[in-house]
Amino acid sequence: MNHSVTKICEDFIPELNQAIGEQSAESIFILTDDNTRNFCLPIVLQSDKLKGSHIITIKSGDENKGIDSAVEIWKYLSENGATRKSLLISLGGGMITDIGGFTASTFKRGMRNINISTTLLGAVDAATGGKTGVNFLGLKNEIGVFAPAETVLINIDFFKTLDQANMLSGFSEMVKHALIFSTEEWEKVMKFNLNNIDLDSLKVLLRKSIQIKELIVEQDPYEASIRKALNLGHTFGHAFESLSYKINQPALHGYAVMWGLLCELYLSHMKLNFPKEELLRLKYLAKDYYGKLEFHCQQYDTLFELMTHDKKNDSKEINFTLLSGIGEIKINQTATKEEIFECFDWFREG
Ligand code: GLY
Repeated sequence: MNHSVTKICEDFIPELNQAIGEQSAESIFILTDDNTRNFCLPIVLQSDKLKGSHIITIKSGDENKGIDSAVEIWKYLSENGATRKSLLISLGGGMITDIGGFTASTFKRGMRNINISTTLLGAVDAATGGKTGVNFLGLKNEIGVFAPAETVLINIDFFKTLDQANMLSGFSEMVKHALIFSTEEWEKVMKFNLNNIDLDSLKVLLRKSIQIKELIVEQDPYEASIRKALNLGHTFGHAFESLSYKINQPALHGYAVMWGLLCELYLSHMKLNFPKEELLRLKYLAKDYYGKLEFHCQQYDTLFELMTHDKKNDSKEINFTLLSGIGEIKINQTATKEEIFECFDWFREG
């Protein structure tokens, strides 16, 4: 697989011009949603290289990341003369970069794609690493391909349009990257001031966080082994996210990941002796900033059922990535139903 290079821009427009110039595209299409069209597109259009480019706007929100929106994009590309030598610029959060990467990589068997991530969550995770896709039959990313963007650009200024909750949602993926990488990075992330987010300090942490992801993806682009480390927190996390919608307490992805990280570190403590003091540090951070999902024991079976349907599972067993210490990754771990229920108890009690 050809890996993209993610750049956190210092001077956005010249760096965007350079990225576009490298593609020598016949024509350019910009994919936006109704939010990024208002807030971010006017800045992107300051680039001379984008004069005369086509703008495709779809509805924002994960509920619109389905095959209908993909059809809308393919139709627009087809009716407006896109070729294999055209370029798609996907401007948005994870929803846009996922569907943009998917539609670009399948249109005429593949046109090029540049991701411009406008959210912290998208920047630290979805835009990089080549996973693309759409939701199908109620299942997240059920249809998709591995297709890395040619370039991923991040303009921190776009994050100024994000509220605190969306910043926190992205931050939990940074916590995950630190946990799987090193004590040094973990300490830096844990000391970051979330009360008053300084974008310059965030930029330093973000750069490292993306490098951690790129390092792992480079070793295992198709998730046969070590890339599973990036699933830490997501087995419980996806179940919490789905339950949150079912019980009308919709949670942002990164909040569910934070709760998932807590449960999976607790499981790591039970099974692999992950240090209790680090687990408690994360628990206090989560308590202060992320709150928690309120559910009762009658919902344990629903959560368990959701976990058994996770596409990360190889067979009937639920597949976890756990840690025996910070940076000590143990992939392909399993747990019994009793152990999983014990994690739910611990999560609810705390
Ligand atoms: N979001 C996890 C991965 O890209 O593998």
